[in-house]
Amino acid sequence: MNRYLVTGGAGFLGSHLCDRLVERGDDVLCVDNFFTGDKRNVAHLLGHSRFELMRHDVTFPLYVEVDRIFNLACPASPVHYQHDPVQSTKTSVHGAINMLGLAKRIKARILQASTSEVYGDPEIHPQTEDYWGRVNPIGMRSCYDEGKRCAETLFFDYHRQHRLEIKVVRIFNTYGPRMHPHDGRVVSNFIVQALQGQDITIYGDGLQTRSFCYVDDLIEAMLRMMDTDADFTGPMNIGNPGEFTMLALAEKVLALVGGRSKLIYEKLPADDPKQRQPDISLARKTIDWEPKVGLDDGLKETIAYFRKLLAA
Ligand SMILES: NC(=O)c1ccc[n+]([C@@H]2O[C@H](COP(=O)([O-])OP(=O)(O)OC[C@H]3O[C@@H](n4cnc5c(N)ncnc54)[C@H](O)[C@@H]3O)[C@@H](O)[C@H]2O)c1
Repeated sequence: MNRYLVTGGAGFLGSHLCDRLVERGDDVLCVDNFFTGDKRNVAHLLGHSRFELMRHDVTFPLYVEVDRIFNLACPASPVHYQHDPVQSTKTSVHGAINMLGLAKRIKARILQASTSEVYGDPEIHPQTEDYWGRVNPIGMRSCYDEGKRCAETLFFDYHRQHRLEIKVVRIFNTYGPRMHPHDGRVVSNFIVQALQGQDITIYGDGLQTRSFCYVDDLIEAMLRMMDTDADFTGPMNIGNPGEFTMLALAEKVLALVGGRSKLIYEKLPADDPKQRQPDISLARKTIDWEPKVGLDDGLKETIAYFRKLLAA
């Protein structure tokens, strides 16, 4: 049994991670400021003897005793991180400094939830971990992309300078139950629009592609990464390499939800990457992992979740 700190633990990914850790017998301290997270995501864990929830903003120092830290605190969707871009950068950068400082003091292993956005609008496809990316440093998405890049830098400097045991995963688009219904991310957007009988909004011509990983697959990869040998740092891509156009995704959602929604087209937002696909060779080799849940099965679970949420 280990004592884990999960920052951003009341969010979409964090709450699934808390579930898995408690389920397998670990102790979990979930820390969140509830900016985009929701107590309801972890309400079922509240009475559990191995689970504790603490309201705390990671831009301020934290003094707790744990063995391992998963650092997930950060709004992940453009509508949320652009709402207060300065705070978003602070969450990534000051949050990383505070959590790394904590890890150093208590000699804890620490994992950073980084993102495929560190690759920006990539010139190579699919993206391997040795690609340095093509990121606009002054655009609307920079508070997130550059914040996450700087957090990676801090992780590697703490590793080089203080011999901290670090793990960095670069997460590609992930979906599943407990996504925020109004986060503007494409999967939740399409599902909520289809369930409410509204038209489905496609940005651009809908031919830009994304790959989508189901949350259970992703959490399994994060847990395996945390358990890798002490000297393995990553960065390591995790995501589903299966690629779909936005148009194909919209049609799939529509077919699974039913209803009469039509597809409508709007202008592509600035800096929206045209193509994004992980190369997961390193994850295959190092943690013997690849995604197992197909898009149809994952979408069915996610649609069932949103159906219940919208009916409540
Ligand atoms: N979901 C994805 O597809 C995806 C892709 C790439 C990277 N990630 C990364 O994974 C992590 C989790 O993402 P998610 O999809 O669960 O998003 P989310 O918004 O559901 O979760 C983020 C959580 O962090 C909390 N938070 C935000 N600022 C905080 C602060 N200053 N102090 C404490 N808590 C704070 C939020 O309240 C929320 O509970 C993020 O770091 C995100 O960048 C997610």
